Amino acid sequence: MCEFTLDRMNQKLIGRNIVRLDETDSTNTQALNLALEGCDEGTVVTAREQHQGRGRLTRTWFSPPGMGLYVSVVLYPSISLTQVPRVTLMTAVAAVEAIKEAAGLQADIKWPNDLLLNNKKVCGILTEMHYRDQAAPIVIVGIGINVNTPAEMFPPEIQDIAASLFAITGEEVDKEKLFQSFISQLDRYYALLVNDNFSEIINKWRASSTIVGRKVTTHQDGMELLGEVTGVDDNGILILKDEQGNNHAIIGGEIFYTDTDKYGNPKG
Ligand code: BTN
Repeated sequence: MCEFTLDRMNQKLIGRNIVRLDETDSTNTQALNLALEGCDEGTVVTAREQHQGRGRLTRTWFSPPGMGLYVSVVLYPSISLTQVPRVTLMTAVAAVEAIKEAAGLQADIKWPNDLLLNNKKVCGILTEMHYRDQAAPIVIVGIGINVNTPAEMFPPEIQDIAASLFAITGEEVDKEKLFQSFISQLDRYYALLVNDNFSEIINKWRASSTIVGRKVTTHQDGMELLGEVTGVDDNGILILKDEQGNNHAIIGGEIFYTDTDKYGNPKG
């Protein structure tokens, strides 16, 4: 059994119970275990270090001790399957606000769930869903923020594409302040989401993303699709216009910018 402390914050829902672990496999796994045991909605699990931090698309999440924020939140939203991506978008908006508040930096959201600074990824979000009979689904939203990791500490294979807030500014960021700010923002935005006020969230998302007008490529149903992003609809679905002028609704997966190189420099 891991060592943990239980904390409380003065929140409406998210963060009323906070489980702080020194080390763990994955905070998403621990949060799911708590949810399956019937913990309160809004329970937060955070750890100093993860040994098996998970990313999207079966990737791992680099989680060295004390350098980043590794946080997972248990939610039981009464929303339809098609609305689950809203949870990811809401979390991205909360993270942008928290990074602005705690570090004074304006991150750019890369659809659907990456936060970039200087074209490098500083934050990722992993939303996992579990159905239960007759009950609202369990949604575990996990977020990793590279906070004070020195640039040279990132594994060589991600050094070109990942950064931390510290690596961008040269100044250490108060992790606890960032954590508290993120939880408060998430609490606020989750109240909007469950009260059917998603338009406010998606408008904030759009204001924090420079994706419209970008040339991108993505894989859909095993086929490569190339085109230009023309918008993100009210449900957070990406609209892509291909080279023949046809519009495509992109619900999931990953997009790659084709108009810049991996350092963010314009091509051609
Ligand atoms: C991604 O960008 O691929 C998503 C990364 C999500 C990482 C976080 S760290 C806290 C939580 N626990 C995990 O195992 N993963 C998420």
